[in-house]
This record gives sequence, C-alpha cells and structure tokens, in this order.
Amino acid sequence: MLSHVIDLLADPIDLSPLHGEDDFSRLVSESGHSYDVARQGYVTLAGGAGLRYGGDDTQMINDRETFLGRGHYAPFVEAVTEAVGEVIDEAGIPDDAEPAICEVGAGTGYYLSHMLDSIDGSRGIGLDVSIPSAKKLAKCHPRVGAVVADAWATLPIRDNCIDAIAVVFAPRNASEFARVLKPGGQVVVLTADTGHLDELREPLGIIGVEKGKVQRMIDQARDHLVPVGPSEPVQFKMQLDQGSIATQIGMSPSARHIHPDVLAERIATLPTTMEVTARAMITRFKKVGA
Ligand SMILES: C[S@@+](CC[C@H](N)C(=O)[O-])C[C@H]1O[C@@H](n2cnc3c(N)ncnc32)[C@H](O)[C@@H]1O
Repeated sequence: MLSHVIDLLADPIDLSPLHGEDDFSRLVSESGHSYDVARQGYVTLAGGAGLRYGGDDTQMINDRETFLGRGHYAPFVEAVTEAVGEVIDEAGIPDDAEPAICEVGAGTGYYLSHMLDSIDGSRGIGLDVSIPSAKKLAKCHPRVGAVVADAWATLPIRDNCIDAIAVVFAPRNASEFARVLKPGGQVVVLTADTGHLDELREPLGIIGVEKGKVQRMIDQARDHLVPVGPSEPVQFKMQLDQGSIATQIGMSPSARHIHPDVLAERIATLPTTMEVTARAMITRFKKVGA
C-alpha cells in the first residue's frame, strides 16, 4: 500500500514531498501537484513529458509470473534477498526503523515480496514503467507501494531515504540511485552473464549475453557509485519443459524479436524436458565517497 512508503515518495516535477489525500485516492505534493491513485492501488508519478515507453506488456508480465511461480529462478531470488539483507544488517538498521527497499524495474514483485518477507520490518517501493507490472506490484505484498515511473528520468523518491535498491535484469540509473540512497545505503544488481540460457540460444535463435557486460556497468556508474567488493557469480541448472521454455522466452526481450509462430515451431523441436544453465552476476555498489 502506498501509505507504507509515502514518506519516501516525491513529486516527479520538483521533488517536493508527497502526502495522501481523500483516503489515499490521490497523492498531492507540497507544491500542489496532484496524482490520482488507480483503483488497482498503484500511482503513476511521471514528470511533465509523461512516459515515453510502456515497458513489459501484459503477455510478458503473465509469462514472467508463470515462469517465476514455478520456482525456476529460486537461487536468483535467494541470492538477491541475501545480499539486500546483508546491506541492511551492515548498515545497522534496526527492524523498528522500517528499512526502506526500492526495486527498480520490479516486474511482478517476485523479488521484492520475497525480500520483504525475509527482512523484518522492511517496506518497499516497487517501481516499474509498465502499467500491467504495477497492477501486479500493488497486490504482491502488503508493505509494497507500487509506482509507475521511468528509471531513466528523475526518480519520484526523496533524497537520502532508501537503505537498499535492488535491480534484477532491469535498467540502472546510477546518478539517481546515488541521490535517493542514504549515505550508508547500497544498490544490489543482478545482471545476466555470458552463458545464461546457452542451451537455448542456437535452437531458438535468441541473442546471447555479450562479454564484459558487468565491467561496462561498473565503468558507466563510476562517477556516482563504486562496487563493494568483486561481483559474485550465481549459476545453476534448471530442468525446463517446453511450457517453461515458452514462458522464459515470452518474458524476455526475445519475445519482441521472434514471431510467436516461429518460436512455437522451434520450441516443438526441443526435447520434452531439457537442462538449461542460468548464469548471472551479483554486484553491490555504494555511493562514491561513502
Ligand atoms: C526483464 S524485466 C525484470 C523484472 C523483474 N526485475 C524480474 O526479474 O522479475 C525488466 C523490467 O523492467 C521494466 N522496465 C524497462 N524499462 C524501464 C524503465 N525505463 N523504467 C522502469 N522500468 C523499466 C520492464 O517493464 C520490466 O518489468
């Protein structure tokens, strides 16, 4: 619910604090801008230009929910939750201080709800540019506030108020992350690594993960964020049937590049069940100078 995170939210136009009005049916800023809360419980906080990109569509979000709901990425959610838990512990934030977590590009809320279940007292902003995603986020956990916003724009979040930002296969905005993080806060990023889904690349014609992706991310962030230690690999094998493979591809950018009929034909040529490698790197960042 947005009331759990209202003290963290800011007007996307001028970053003045927001508060709830009319029983949280709208959020109003100190400067007088008003943002309606959708009946599904999320709020769109976009500046003057509005949103130029819609993010993942309903089909992608449904495929994501099905795939993740089958537990195929359980080691990823465990690794991200553990890293965010360490960030909160190392910063010495007591449970009754209600640690503030923000997941950027939060999708269905699979990762964020797991973090909130595991970290006592925590609450979270689930931010995504996609409205179908925000509808899921608003329902994913009682202590989530769902916000539609563009990660590449000014984030509708107050300065120095977030303990941990999580980004899982989603966009990163280093300067904004540094602005909204508390001085001891950190960002936890999970990025796909070379070898991820390798067994599916050739038969399905999907794009591979380019080499040096993590180092490029670190280089791009360096004016605002620096890594806390080396990036750690998270690698495991999944047993995927054809249905799970279809939802895996359906929730990924490949869904936009391959015609659904062609994809279905290619999937039908695969074994009924096959072993597929999942491979990602987890990197923690702190603010420059922290
Ligand atoms: C690959 S999905 C990952 C979703 C979620 N983190 C997970 O792993 O289940 C990327 C997500 O980022 C969102 N997204 C893409 N561009 C965005 C942007 N500019 N601002 C905010 N969200 C964005 C998409 O709508 C999508 O939900």
